[in-house]
Amino acid sequence: MKTVRIHEYGNADVLRIEEMPVPKIADDELLIKVHAASINPVDWKVREGYLKEMHLHSLPITLGQDFSGTIEKVGNSVKGFKVGDDVYGRPSIERDGSYAEYLEVKANECALMPKTITYDEAATIPLAGIAAWETLINKAKIQKGQRVLILAASGGVGSLAVQIAKNRGCYVIGTTSSVNLDFVKKLGCDEVIDYMSQDFSQRLTDIDVVLDTIGGEIQEKAFKVMKRGGILISTANKPNQEMANKFGVRCEYVFVGPNAHILNELRTLIEMGQIHPVIDKVFRFEDVKQAQNYSQSGKARGKIVLEVVK
Ligand SMILES: NC(=O)c1ccc[n+]([C@@H]2O[C@H](COP(=O)([O-])OP(=O)(O)OC[C@H]3O[C@@H](n4cnc5c(N)ncnc54)[C@H](OP(=O)(O)O)[C@@H]3O)[C@@H](O)[C@H]2O)c1
Repeated sequence: MKTVRIHEYGNADVLRIEEMPVPKIADDELLIKVHAASINPVDWKVREGYLKEMHLHSLPITLGQDFSGTIEKVGNSVKGFKVGDDVYGRPSIERDGSYAEYLEVKANECALMPKTITYDEAATIPLAGIAAWETLINKAKIQKGQRVLILAASGGVGSLAVQIAKNRGCYVIGTTSSVNLDFVKKLGCDEVIDYMSQDFSQRLTDIDVVLDTIGGEIQEKAFKVMKRGGILISTANKPNQEMANKFGVRCEYVFVGPNAHILNELRTLIEMGQIHPVIDKVFRFEDVKQAQNYSQSGKARGKIVLEVVK
């Protein structure tokens, strides 16, 4: 089978398209014929070696943190799935990933794919969708009427987070650049702030929940606009606890793993038409370098798809 692997850390030139044997599965696993993967920032962060200190994986490794596909084989102890089912999932970062024609995954890392969307669309949901759900629903426990600020509302995580928060009846404010203002409004934001011409920290007050997907100085500014007792959750970096104490808010960094339960929740909302996947660009498998470079540009609007099967 064809795969995209790295043997060393570095820029996109270290990406190698390689033939590998189709994996064998254990009793609690599924063999997936992958239709599409999506490109996430974590893919090039792994490739660059930024996650080295976390000791999550060793090289060489096949990249790819989410997939859509069809079940080809079912392990002996697996319940609830059968050969031919369409599934989507976020595999463990510790093992070979989804930039591959076949993927061996734990059955509890997968869920049935929403019936109303394509393979390309389904591949965009797992990692970003789990991150948006875990931060807003499980950690922040967003409630109807709360003021929720999404930093980078046009990104992969942000574009799903806006829809999830709207679905829960929140008042949603998103930041983005001028080129994405209309896009973010259409996603459902009640208020959109163009970060190129306005400083959100001068304009906003009384924010209950901040979902920060950018980190650094922008994250620090966000503390100033929060209500006391609010919560800031970041997918980008560990927030500054001293700042949180100063402003009387809670803060947390999350690093999400596989989560079939969240994927089942998302499937329901997608099938009800309440959440829509957002694809920016679709790349051919052979163009994986361009796909990762595009992700690394930080300009993706929604998600980037890597088509494994045309
Ligand atoms: N910890 C976890 O478990 C986890 C899970 C998922 C993602 N993440 C991390 O979360 C971050 C976001 O991921 P992602 O997939 O959403 O990234 P992404 O799709 O690559 O984000 C790109 C978007 O960021 C926007 N952006 C860039 N600078 C901005 C700014 N200053 N203000 C507002 N928007 C800005 C861009 O909008 P413009 O073009 O309009 O600037 C673009 O739409 C990454 O660091 C990723 O690694 C972590």
